[in-house]
Amino acid sequence: VNKEKAFMVNLLPYPVFIGNDGWDKIRRLIIPYLRDERVFLLDDQNTEKNCLPILFHFIPELYDCEIYTLADGEQSKEIRTLGEVWKWLITHGARQGSLLINLGGGVISDIGGFAAATAKRGMHYVNIPTTLIGQADAAIGGKTGINLEGAKNQAGVFYNPEAVFIIPEFLLTLPERHFKSGFAEIIKSAALSGHHSWKLLKDTADYSVEHMIPLIYEAVRYKCLVVKKDPYDRASRRALNFGHTAGHALESLFNRQQMPGMLHGEAVAAGMAIELFLSGMVAGLEAIERDDIISVIRKHFHLPFVDDKYHEMLLNLMNLDKKNDSDRINFTLLEAIGKPVINCRVNSRDIRSSLMEYNRMTGHDQD
Ligand SMILES: NC(=O)c1ccc[n+]([C@@H]2O[C@H](COP(=O)([O-])OP(=O)(O)OC[C@H]3O[C@@H](n4cnc5c(N)ncnc54)[C@H](O)[C@@H]3O)[C@@H](O)[C@H]2O)c1
Repeated sequence: VNKEKAFMVNLLPYPVFIGNDGWDKIRRLIIPYLRDERVFLLDDQNTEKNCLPILFHFIPELYDCEIYTLADGEQSKEIRTLGEVWKWLITHGARQGSLLINLGGGVISDIGGFAAATAKRGMHYVNIPTTLIGQADAAIGGKTGINLEGAKNQAGVFYNPEAVFIIPEFLLTLPERHFKSGFAEIIKSAALSGHHSWKLLKDTADYSVEHMIPLIYEAVRYKCLVVKKDPYDRASRRALNFGHTAGHALESLFNRQQMPGMLHGEAVAAGMAIELFLSGMVAGLEAIERDDIISVIRKHFHLPFVDDKYHEMLLNLMNLDKKNDSDRINFTLLEAIGKPVINCRVNSRDIRSSLMEYNRMTGHDQD
């Protein structure tokens, strides 16, 4: 892994460091808390095994901090677990000046950020993301939250970390399927950001961790730019929802029925494909760009066929999506590479047609 390259993105009220030599920066931030305050660390069973020893190696002083380890995966991002984290923080003396370190993927930064925002009416926290989704997306932007009864991100707040430390080396132990899943957010960000990022993505032939650093940097810089303009997701930040309205519905559907189950990024990849068909229909995306993006998605993902019998359920799940403000369903679509269009209110007939087009494409894969 390239130890030379280190970047800092300073567009938000807190710094985002990227690079494998970020340890000094982490240490400088954490040591005063260890000296004067209390430090808590939230991880899951996999990051405890794979990432915590690395953190201890570089910052041995952390041995003495309070640690709470969640079961891994999306099922931990829910109200019962949040209650456990609150109890742990409060019974161990957390105060407003204490620090919570979130060591893990998007699940840990989402629930840990929410816990930090609400325990004692708000304590400090930092994110040390250990998945590609976390590093390219979830750890940045201050969106925290939990799921409710299988529906994604139904409760949460915006609450900024003190800093985000992206150490790509953590990705070396990430299982292949999760690494690939994270690639969906990289594809999304490149398509939204414009031709420079899109070309960089297409020109990258080697997706090993060391070659990912420029792609992660591009995704982080784009996310920071978008969040800076609209930190509370009232308008332009909704660009980042591209692929997510259909994606979240698929994720809920596949994880609810007796189906194989879908990771967040896998759902976003399929969601982007559906929304690209929709973009062609209602946002003027040219077929050549639509097919270009779809071919990159299909290079990395096997897109599942979604049986017609689930289409109504998907529409209902899309209606639950928090971005809707009328009886039509609200999407972020793409007019062209680098040109997202927010607040596209789409009627259910067009959504059904895009699902059919998507199925025509994925149905061929199954033949
Ligand atoms: N808040 C936001 O802006 C935002 C943005 C995108 C996604 N998200 C959320 O993020 C979640 C998905 O993120 P995720 O894919 O990181 O999920 P995750 O946190 O569940 O991590 C995926 C898996 O990888 C394991 N893992 C993590 N780091 C590892 C490492 N270095 N080595 C080995 N195993 C490791 C975890 O234990 C877990 O099993 C979803 O809940 C999604 O809604 C939030």
